[in-house]
Amino acid sequence: AGTPAAIGGDARRRPSRRGRLPGRQDWSSWPHYQAAASGFRGYWYPVAFSSHITGKPKAITLLGERIVVIRDDGKVYALKDRCPHRGVPLSYGNQQFPGTISCPYHGWTFDLETGALKAVITDGPQSPICGKVTQPTYEVEERLGMVWIFVGDGEDAPPIDDQLPEELRDNPAVVGARIQARVGNWRFACENGYDEGHAKYLHRTALWRLFKAMPVWNETRIVRRGRWIYRVQEAQHWDADFPGLGRWSNQAWYKLKPPKQVANIGNTGSHRKVNPAIAAEEFPGFASVSMPGVLRIVYPTFIHYEFYVPVDADNHLYVGVMANFEKGIRTLPFYAKYLGAVRWLFHGQFSGQDKWMVEVTDAPPERLYRPDDSLLQWRKLAEEVTEERAERLKLTGDLG
Ligand code: FES
Repeated sequence: AGTPAAIGGDARRRPSRRGRLPGRQDWSSWPHYQAAASGFRGYWYPVAFSSHITGKPKAITLLGERIVVIRDDGKVYALKDRCPHRGVPLSYGNQQFPGTISCPYHGWTFDLETGALKAVITDGPQSPICGKVTQPTYEVEERLGMVWIFVGDGEDAPPIDDQLPEELRDNPAVVGARIQARVGNWRFACENGYDEGHAKYLHRTALWRLFKAMPVWNETRIVRRGRWIYRVQEAQHWDADFPGLGRWSNQAWYKLKPPKQVANIGNTGSHRKVNPAIAAEEFPGFASVSMPGVLRIVYPTFIHYEFYVPVDADNHLYVGVMANFEKGIRTLPFYAKYLGAVRWLFHGQFSGQDKWMVEVTDAPPERLYRPDDSLLQWRKLAEEVTEERAERLKLTGDLG
């Protein structure tokens, strides 16, 4: 798509034997992260809205794997999308019998649940190959109005609820969401989302900032809690003298008064209007990130998530989810606000700025500065968690 391929996606950009990539700092400290150009295995990923998956087979690509997704009798199934006979995508086929999918070419027909070859329409009811071929299947769940697929290495999928952010698992939430296919490697998209410096500068022109406060610069600590790392921002400044250059303020663009919230924006506890479901969690920071590439931004009355879903080394899905924990009639203002403004302002214009930055900076050279500590901590987290998984799989013999 006109952008440099991500690491591993293009022979011209392959690391040298010393693990160094042309134009990049040495990534050899994060070998798992470097190797995960097409995503980390062993996780659940959201791939589509539930309402978009019907009895008509749909082809998707996830972590470079071609998968056919189909709904049958209310349940969603996923199978490898290449017929084992002659390689035709099963997603071009259809259902000739309930609970199955038939390849369009010669009518090999697979059980949706097990992937077992149940019938071969062009070889009669007694076809001897039946029962001898099994098409690989994927575990599927539906949560938050979306279909999630587990991609692993043959191990049993952990319960999806173990992977979802705790507050989504433990509280009924109403959500507004947007799924967009985007160009660029998922890691750079995820890093761009969590990148502390960009929120302070790139997004200064986002209309969203008419409504929400953001720091210009501050002192940030990175705190790890459970499987999340947080940016804890202790103070923020809205203008200052840059010696010999002049004064710079992020108010220059829209000339609003300084927001009331001038310190400790990292903790929603500084707000009076905190939703109990959110406050109870006591998030130590405004922005946090977790595996396998999930960004969480805690606002006073809702939480915003970005799931960076690897399609392949050069493409990803941006899944933006806004969750609110109101119930009953009180959900109506949330939906009105989401559909009337937030969907366009935040999931559209604001996050669109990240989109074009990923397109132009995918696999950039890097000479890091102070605020980039958040990125290094994220890579470190990914590295540690992946190493732990590799050890675990070795012990259980699930990894070949
Ligand atoms: Fe699928 Fe022949 S290629 S049935």
